[in-house]
Amino acid sequence: MTDKLWGGRFTAKAAEWVDKFGASISFDQQMAKEDLTASIAHVKMLGKQNIIPAKDAKTIEDGLNVLMQRLEAGELHFTVENEDIHLNMESLLTDLIGPVAGKLHTARSRNDQVATDFHLWLKNRLPEIKEAITNLQTVLVEKAEENAGTIMPGYTHMQHAQPITYGHYLLAYFEMLQRDYERFEFNQKHTDMLPLGAAALAGTTFPIDREYVADELGFDEVYHNSLDAVSDRDFALEFLSNAALLMEHLSRLAEELILWCTYDFNYIEMDDRFATGSSIMPQKKNADFAELVRGKTGRVYGALMGLLTTMKSLPLAYNKDMQEDKEPVFDTYNTILGSLHIFAGMLESVKVHKEKMHDATINDFSNATELADYLATKGVPFRTAHGIVGKLVLHGIKTHQSLQDMPLSELQEAAPQIQEDVYQELTSEAAVERRTSLGGTAVTNVNKEVARAKAIIKTH
Ligand code: ARG
Repeated sequence: MTDKLWGGRFTAKAAEWVDKFGASISFDQQMAKEDLTASIAHVKMLGKQNIIPAKDAKTIEDGLNVLMQRLEAGELHFTVENEDIHLNMESLLTDLIGPVAGKLHTARSRNDQVATDFHLWLKNRLPEIKEAITNLQTVLVEKAEENAGTIMPGYTHMQHAQPITYGHYLLAYFEMLQRDYERFEFNQKHTDMLPLGAAALAGTTFPIDREYVADELGFDEVYHNSLDAVSDRDFALEFLSNAALLMEHLSRLAEELILWCTYDFNYIEMDDRFATGSSIMPQKKNADFAELVRGKTGRVYGALMGLLTTMKSLPLAYNKDMQEDKEPVFDTYNTILGSLHIFAGMLESVKVHKEKMHDATINDFSNATELADYLATKGVPFRTAHGIVGKLVLHGIKTHQSLQDMPLSELQEAAPQIQEDVYQELTSEAAVERRTSLGGTAVTNVNKEVARAKAIIKTH
């Protein structure tokens, strides 16, 4: 027998470096609080069900509470010899109350224990993620309201397409984040399930009360299949997949902000608090934080791909491979929480160069669709109108004139239907104002959508 808690059938002791390779304590100590919380619920149930004497259950519960206090005071020390948080806690409890501590593991296995700790860990953190999303959405809506009429170029293929407003643009990200929010909300349903009681894989012979433990721990449901309970990591994969989509959204926003604060665009300027300088070039002001979030997207995608690959083809039930589930989730949680906070601060403080944005819509032919639409309303088939305006654009490029600068005679040469009233429709303001179709960029729409977004936030 070796001195491991599971050492009964072992005669040889592993080398220290082998122990170290197999140990998870370096990272699963993040679940120390959850481990104690779950153990307290478990031992109360063991006592209540007379599976162990009530007196012993009380001794163990008190011991676990002492460990909880010591944990909070930063006084618990974990060792690699004790492998993981579960065995470390059992060993600390034994040091504290003696061999009666061994009764805690009745009707339980580390397999359902680790799954329970992990569920609890994520369950307690999903609300924080949702709150951080809501916080960023609130900033987006505030800024959208302020900029409902801030005209800027809208792009397709990175080419000027049609004028939009900055407010409309920001609300696009509000919508993406709302879907993210809803995905994390759904993620809660699958996280809010109790695996404990599945024991190693097959359930237990002891008369346990899983519903009681679920209630104690605040879980909505219990797993109804013991094999599934200890093998399921869908809740973690859903979290990572939701996080990957969230980061995809933030990375797109990051990319645009980075471009827009370049000398070439100059649509915005980052606040000093969200930019950094260069150690050699004194003039530099870099959008480092937006870049970092863009970069961290790769790390979150990696976490998702890593765990998907770990779980692929894993036979039921527990396999040690699954110890690889925690680090990507812990890391992703920190990454997305940090990224959401950074973006809220960055967007809140970014300086918008309204005039520069507006000016960029004047000589860029982004009113070509307006002219084609104008002709279409005068009865010219849209396809024909498209061709006529295309030729006028070519003429404008050659003669260095924008459509709105061309004399009426030149316009009429291309299409006699064009009248003096055309000019008022060729301004960026008119282009925006007239896009009142549901979901369009018109200022009135943006204001309506701001109100809708505020109402949505209230439901969070
Ligand atoms: N440290 C392990 C993990 O994180 C705990 C479960 C160990 N179970 C076992 N049968 N070896 O997955």
